[in-house]
Amino acid sequence: MSEKIISFIGGGNMARSLIGGLIADGHPAAAIRVAEPDAARREALINDFAIQGFEDNATAARGADAVILAVKPNTVAEVAGDLAAQIRDQASLVMSIAAGVRSADIAGWLGENAPVVRAMPNTPALVQTGATALFANAAVTADQRDLAESTMRAVGMVVWLADEQQMDAVTALSGSGPAYFFYTMEVMQQAAEQLGLDRETARLLTLETALGAARMALESSEDAATLRKRVTSPGGTTAAAIEEFNRGDLAGLYAKALGAAARRAAELGDELGAQSQ
Ligand SMILES: NC(=O)c1ccc[n+]([C@@H]2O[C@H](COP(=O)([O-])OP(=O)(O)OC[C@H]3O[C@@H](n4cnc5c(N)ncnc54)[C@H](OP(=O)(O)O)[C@@H]3O)[C@@H](O)[C@H]2O)c1
Repeated sequence: MSEKIISFIGGGNMARSLIGGLIADGHPAAAIRVAEPDAARREALINDFAIQGFEDNATAARGADAVILAVKPNTVAEVAGDLAAQIRDQASLVMSIAAGVRSADIAGWLGENAPVVRAMPNTPALVQTGATALFANAAVTADQRDLAESTMRAVGMVVWLADEQQMDAVTALSGSGPAYFFYTMEVMQQAAEQLGLDRETARLLTLETALGAARMALESSEDAATLRKRVTSPGGTTAAAIEEFNRGDLAGLYAKALGAAARRAAELGDELGAQSQ
């Protein structure tokens, strides 16, 4: 990992995970800075990771190769506007992890030709198994792409998008996706309890089955459909369950659910982009 200076604006949950991941990857603590208004949260980050923490955003961002906007989406316009002149002078890369905020809006708040990478991570990044999609605008250099990618890789896997419009589909898939799997676990556990298992047994078997299936699918060279068919013997127990899923049009339901999430992501992008500084 490079020794580039990375400054986080906002030291909340996601920044804490990224900082932890960067340190675990060998990024020097002296080259990581954070601006966090909450004194207790700031001190905790300084104590836990031996990084430099500041109350003030401009001080934290001074001299940074990358400034990572890790504040809530509705705060990005204000933070970017306040740092715009400094970031232009320093030619820093700006990376935003804020859900829904488009790179063109961020570049607009920063000023002409600002290099911006937009990242869409997901909550498993908090346990270093995130899935992040990245989009770079035309002003981002190859070195800056590498820096953005290695930063997000510290908390999981990374894919690049050539077209930012795909970010709405990514939001619907991996951004909101952990909740779909939590929901599936929740209802599987409930169904197992109705079949007579006690809560703890149902919970453990549900979670380990989810983990095992995900690990098998990741380690296999075959797709999920092939793996499913292999364990679905005609006339067997799995086939009986899958027939019920098909009768309830599970595939159609997923298409509708992801469609609704993608439409909402686009609406949120419009709303956030309409904010003034
Ligand atoms: N958590 C996730 O899994 C996840 C997934 C995908 C995307 N994201 C995105 O990541 C971003 C951060 O999420 P998070 O979960 O880390 O949120 P969070 O825990 O609320 O962190 C945001 C931090 O920024 C601080 N802050 C507020 N205003 C600020 C300002 N003007 N300057 C500097 N810092 C300021 C907040 O302090 P106060 O609390 O004192 O206001 C808070 O500590 C969000 O935009 C979110 O959309 C998060």
